[in-house]
Amino acid sequence: MPDIYAVFGNPVAHSKSPLIHAAFARQTGQDMTYSALLAPLDGFRESVAEFRKDGASGANVTVPFKEQAYALATRHTPRALAAGAANTLKFEVDGILGDNTDGAGLVRDLIVNLGVVIAGKRILLMGAGGAARGVIQPLLDQQPAQLFIVNRTPEKAIDLACAFAAGGVRGGGYAELSGEFDVVINATAASLANDLPPLPDSIFAPDALAYDMMYGRDTPFLAFARAHGARAADGLGMLVEQAAEAFNLWRGVRPDTATVIRSLREG
Ligand code: ATR
Repeated sequence: MPDIYAVFGNPVAHSKSPLIHAAFARQTGQDMTYSALLAPLDGFRESVAEFRKDGASGANVTVPFKEQAYALATRHTPRALAAGAANTLKFEVDGILGDNTDGAGLVRDLIVNLGVVIAGKRILLMGAGGAARGVIQPLLDQQPAQLFIVNRTPEKAIDLACAFAAGGVRGGGYAELSGEFDVVINATAASLANDLPPLPDSIFAPDALAYDMMYGRDTPFLAFARAHGARAADGLGMLVEQAAEAFNLWRGVRPDTATVIRSLREG
């Protein structure tokens, strides 16, 4: 019997995770299945409980259930604790381990795939919701010179920065932005609405990278970045890398991500 995994979300039909994990399993010779399961908005806990009862080994969790997945876990990795949200659950005999691989996925995509140095650099993180929160600690672990969280509602950025105050993070509104940044990361929902956060024209340092966590289409943020001389990257690499981190947690083997990213891009 193959081991059983799935991604829970709502909506979830668009998810590329089944494709990615199938590619990882083929590549590493792991005997497992991975499907996409739609959980009712008010029935996440029950859906996961049923899945586990049916003998599943673990699950990924996407929007809007990551906080609920965190609450469901009986044990957490340090990076899940920092994020306050879980995108990966591992079902164990005596409980559920909650992990959050999003931040590690982003950092790996930046460093390994895109060749970006984070250490000593000025990082601007746009957004103060769950997507932003999940990547702060892994970014700080790389010891940037500066991490500024900017948000449409400045208070939320300030609160979030306070939660990571030991790392020297600062937060505020777009009107407070000054100076240049080496890496600008879009963790807002603006791209979904084809919207551009109000960034100053002078935000990008020479050789800056603009990173949009969204993938699958060009965004106003990436177009803005290119028009201002920055290199632009979408979030497809992060998607594959966070999946690889989850796969490694479950199976104890790290798949090769570059080939999977390439084949997804070729579509
Ligand atoms: P997620 O879990 O994806 O982070 P979220 O918690 O709803 O989703 O957070 C969405 C983030 O995108 C927030 O930081 C939001 O700003 P506010 O806190 O001011 O609402 C930000 N956001 C959404 N639409 C935006 C837009 N058009 N321009 C700038 N920021 C936007």
